[in-house]
Amino acid sequence: MFVDVGSEDEIAEGGMVSFKVGGDDVVVARYAGKLYAFGRGCGHEGARLDRGTVNGRIVTCPLHFAQFDIVTGEALLGPADRNYGRGPPDRGRSLETHDIPTFKVKVENGRVMVDIEKGLGSQENVR
Ligand code: FES
Repeated sequence: MFVDVGSEDEIAEGGMVSFKVGGDDVVVARYAGKLYAFGRGCGHEGARLDRGTVNGRIVTCPLHFAQFDIVTGEALLGPADRNYGRGPPDRGRSLETHDIPTFKVKVENGRVMVDIEKGLGSQENVR
């Protein structure tokens, strides 16, 4: 079921906006003119990905810099070790990082519509 989350004009190229959709927090980003939707929580420790950065199709978490593919949701790079370059690895933090959910998204009459029911796993952008 597609849900109206806002105006297409709100999302600039290379930008992203967070929406509350039902009980889920969803981020919609624009990459190469298309819109992609994914879960807001980082696959490491749940930080807000909408407060990170998007570069091409990669979103980087602002907390420990894990990276995810916004098209497939795949975790591409785990979090940076807080001792990186300053000594032995920090074993206190879990370095396990999970993929993030992605959602189908389309535009109808200038409105962004996100399919919240098919939210898990890789989804193809249907715009
Ligand atoms: S919470 Fe995102 S990298 Fe740790």
